[in-house]
Amino acid sequence: MKIGILGSGLMGGKLGVLFAQAGHEVIFSYSRRQSKLDDLARRAGQTAASGTPAEAARADVILLAVHWSRLDDVLSQAGSLVGKTVVTCCVPLDETDSKLVVGHTDSGAEQIARKLPGAKVAAAFQSTPSEVFAEVFDARQHPGKASCVYCSDDADAGRAAAELLTTIGFSPVNAGPLAIARYIEPFALLTAQLAYGTEDGPDWAYRFGKFNTL
Ligand SMILES: NC(=O)c1ccc[n+]([C@@H]2O[C@H](COP(=O)([O-])OP(=O)(O)OC[C@H]3O[C@@H](n4cnc5c(N)ncnc54)[C@H](OP(=O)(O)O)[C@@H]3O)[C@@H](O)[C@H]2O)c1
Repeated sequence: MKIGILGSGLMGGKLGVLFAQAGHEVIFSYSRRQSKLDDLARRAGQTAASGTPAEAARADVILLAVHWSRLDDVLSQAGSLVGKTVVTCCVPLDETDSKLVVGHTDSGAEQIARKLPGAKVAAAFQSTPSEVFAEVFDARQHPGKASCVYCSDDADAGRAAAELLTTIGFSPVNAGPLAIARYIEPFALLTAQLAYGTEDGPDWAYRFGKFNTL
């Protein structure tokens, strides 16, 4: 799969490196420092490169991974995403990353879908701190995987989200249509509270399953 990373920070940088290490083609974009994008591409290996958001947007699947306040900027730099599969991990947070600015009757994921008519949008990776990705990836061949919920209104985008989650080592949990992001995004604040608001360290993950499979 060719994956374009729009936003190469904690989420996009780490996930992109692991996607590339798993054999996907990855292009890192959107940072104020070109050297950071180049370093990520070097670390990720031969199947990775750095580029502009417009170049990243040529990939089959786009990972959208920016702070909510940067959304319009990165999308305008990416250009048309008509026909593309867009997996967003963005959580619609305020500047202090402490409060949701969208909720109850709408979600960040739905707002993104409305901004991108003609794109196939899924939400995934919103509810797990980036600090755990490397451990989940290293344990991907082991039984007892961590869960990660995703949602989409589009079957192709849902499949892409599930494939990306599986690539990292998560057991993907299909939570249903994109509107379920209204519940996933507040849940992301719960996992963030466990990760950053306790003294146990940030490498939290969770597991959902029917009781007899846990
Ligand atoms: N971090 C987590 O554990 C976590 C977990 C779940 C969901 N999320 C969500 O995932 C999304 C991404 O989070 P993150 O932690 O990866 O964010 P981040 O580390 O701040 O990375 C955001 C990206 O946007 C770029 N950027 C910011 N301002 C820019 C500007 N003015 N011009 C160009 N590039 C700019 C950053 O580049 P620079 O290199 O210039 O900083 C970086 O590439 C957010 O919506 C967040 O709520 C995060």
